[in-house]
Amino acid sequence: MSQSDTFPSHDESGRRDRPHRVGVIGGDGIGPEVLEVALEVVSAAGITLSTTHYELGADHYLASGEVLPDATLQRLRGEDAILLGAVGPPIGSTSVPAGLLERGLLLKLRFELDLYVNLRPFIGTPGSIAPEADFAVVRENTEGPYAGEGGWLRKATPYEVATQGSVNTRHGVERCVRFAFQLAQSRPRHHLTLVHKTNVLQYAGDLWSRTFAEVAAEYTDVETAYQHVDAACIYLVERADRYGVIVTDNLFGDILTDLAGALTGGIGFAASANLNPARTGPSLFEPVHGAAHDIAGTGAANPLAAITSAAMMLDYLGESEAAERVEKAVRGLQADTGYWNKSWSTASVGDAVAERL
Ligand code: IPM
Ligand code: MN
Repeated sequence: MSQSDTFPSHDESGRRDRPHRVGVIGGDGIGPEVLEVALEVVSAAGITLSTTHYELGADHYLASGEVLPDATLQRLRGEDAILLGAVGPPIGSTSVPAGLLERGLLLKLRFELDLYVNLRPFIGTPGSIAPEADFAVVRENTEGPYAGEGGWLRKATPYEVATQGSVNTRHGVERCVRFAFQLAQSRPRHHLTLVHKTNVLQYAGDLWSRTFAEVAAEYTDVETAYQHVDAACIYLVERADRYGVIVTDNLFGDILTDLAGALTGGIGFAASANLNPARTGPSLFEPVHGAAHDIAGTGAANPLAAITSAAMMLDYLGESEAAERVEKAVRGLQADTGYWNKSWSTASVGDAVAERL
């Protein structure tokens, strides 16, 4: 997708009198190294940022016992945007409780900053399973099963009960669906697919489909479709070209975007924007991949997801010309060289993108 089409509602009028303030959370594993390269590309594109680095993640937690102190969150609220590398301890780590960083840092930022859209664009890499793909997933980012509703009864007894609710509000669904319609309208295809599981999830599914149908009436130039999430997994593999924009709930979106990443060249290419489209605070940009502790420090991490995420950030900050140049450079490199290959390194890929600028 063209990054300049990504944020149709952005008003670019007015001149800046200061550099954009960007909070940088390198985080864990390969996070800091891919961000370092992404920031180099941003500056090669001629954009000067005023960056503040935040020490957050597993090491910070182990040193301080804190995941995201309130004062740090307050400082992050004052940034124009946040760039995040990756969050999560090494697999099997016993020193950090499972999920603590993911929920206490990443999800907390999504909720506290009201980043209600998680936008994940996918373009097929030549040689990938779906080279023809060119679609974007709009994942609801603050509700669904991620809201944390539930609990235990009689924990650790043979009669244990665990419940995990899915929270779906009319307000939350509508604003996400509306964003997806606007995005679909701004893209060449004008096509939007709702993905859910309405045949089984009768309450949430009904709220999503009714809201979708009502909002659709305001966007008559957008062609719509509906698919159950299981069927969407088949169609994504077999006919990725049928999609323009997909809108879906938080958990379905999480799963579908890993699938979409694998189909279009690998998760190392997948970028994302956690957006607060109302712009009441900073939005957060991050590669979809995780911390990949196994390759951290080896130079084997693909920085293209981080670079594309940074390009999305530039576009969001109103630097659409620079964003487009970075995006074109990434696409050009992908078209010429295809998949990640053994001769690439994190730094050499960054240099190759910078050269194409
Ligand atoms: C993602 C990640 C997160 C999610 C994890 C780290 C909590 O998988 O951004 O897709 O599930 O949303
Ligand atoms: Mn995920």
